[in-house]
Amino acid sequence: MKILIVDDENVSRKILLKKMELIGECTAVDDSLYALELFNNAVKTKKPFNLVTLDVSMPKMDGRKLLSTIRKTERKMKTPREDRVKIIMVTSRMNVSTIKECIKLGCNGYISKPVNKYQLLENLSRMGLAQPPEIQKDDKKTHSRIVAKIIKRFYKGQIKLPVLPKIVEEAKLLLEGQEPSIEDLAKIIQKDILITSKLIAIANSPLYRGVDNAVNLNAGLLRLGMEASQGLISTIVTKDLFKSDNKVLNGLLEKLWMHSFACGCLGKRIAQQLGMPNAESVFLMGIVHDIGKMLLIKAIVDMNPEETFEDGEMLVAIHEIHTTFGAAVLKKMRFSKEFIHVAEFHHWNDFSKDDAKELLIIHLSDYLANKIGFGFFDAYQNYDKPGSDFKKNLENLNFLKQLNLETGKIMEIADEIKILVKDSAHAF
Ligand SMILES: [Fe+2]
Ligand SMILES: [Fe+2]
Repeated sequence: MKILIVDDENVSRKILLKKMELIGECTAVDDSLYALELFNNAVKTKKPFNLVTLDVSMPKMDGRKLLSTIRKTERKMKTPREDRVKIIMVTSRMNVSTIKECIKLGCNGYISKPVNKYQLLENLSRMGLAQPPEIQKDDKKTHSRIVAKIIKRFYKGQIKLPVLPKIVEEAKLLLEGQEPSIEDLAKIIQKDILITSKLIAIANSPLYRGVDNAVNLNAGLLRLGMEASQGLISTIVTKDLFKSDNKVLNGLLEKLWMHSFACGCLGKRIAQQLGMPNAESVFLMGIVHDIGKMLLIKAIVDMNPEETFEDGEMLVAIHEIHTTFGAAVLKKMRFSKEFIHVAEFHHWNDFSKDDAKELLIIHLSDYLANKIGFGFFDAYQNYDKPGSDFKKNLENLNFLKQLNLETGKIMEIADEIKILVKDSAHAF
């Protein structure tokens, strides 16, 4: 396999070169115009490159321009889709809109600097390219090998994905139809006793509580409303995925569930604050944003029942890949574009004005969830302790201006949701 590495930064070019040399014959250059010349020559002499990595920001011609030039050439030459060169973009700023732009321009994948082996591995697996041997047997510990195996299996369709029960689809169809009624929705839900009883409990939880108890399903649904009910059915079903017979795993999944639930509640509350009409779907976005993490943890234990996750390295491996993995999972589960986008980019930290508000809200909710004691990966950061620099940190978050949210309001919401999460989680 012939690989072309284009990066004007010496250090990152060398890192990539070291990793890529293990899978193919590499040419590494620091100049994009020269790279284009090499690319064209290789095509002309019928020894084309199979894989190109492009740094996004380079002088003379940046990675985007080079990407689009290459794609244009291929279109002009009518190169069949399967023969087009695979292009991975490499970026040092976690900028969502840049990546979106590159995907539109026709890149096959992206990795962020510093290049880590899991991201690289995910990209290579997805493209059906060989894995660097370094990744397959790089240490005696098995974590990287296990993660590698799972990703490979996933892209081969060998990992079973959660199947949402029929009731979810039925409720969705009903709500998309003409004049859906609470009675019709109740008829669908009644078929499932567990969902029915949970919906009633949720209607009576602090999340939705009214003056009197909603004693039956119809009363519960009336209180929740059609749209919220639909989202809550999905939430109840998703909660079920966060369970396991394995004790160690159960503890970990429970923690991840509380984190997801907190993100959902925070997201919904912030969306309401901003007067957004789709607060309920923001809630569901919070619930599923880390679905990749949940499935990776489960798949690891399936393959290796002895795994205790005490080795922090395994959780790091999971964390580094859960966003792209989660997006691929949601895509296969046929979630809408907005949900997939949130799963993929919720940890990025450089947003532009065209980024969806929902994405910014879940990014913020994830951050806040950690602060109010519902983090998964990070230690509890005690935001309300005297001397905490929470407020100052908030003021430094640029995207808050974009959301038009004041830090005082956010702190109020954090206080409110902290209590709400504790009091409502049991209803699910
Ligand atoms: Fe996450
Ligand atoms: Fe998260």
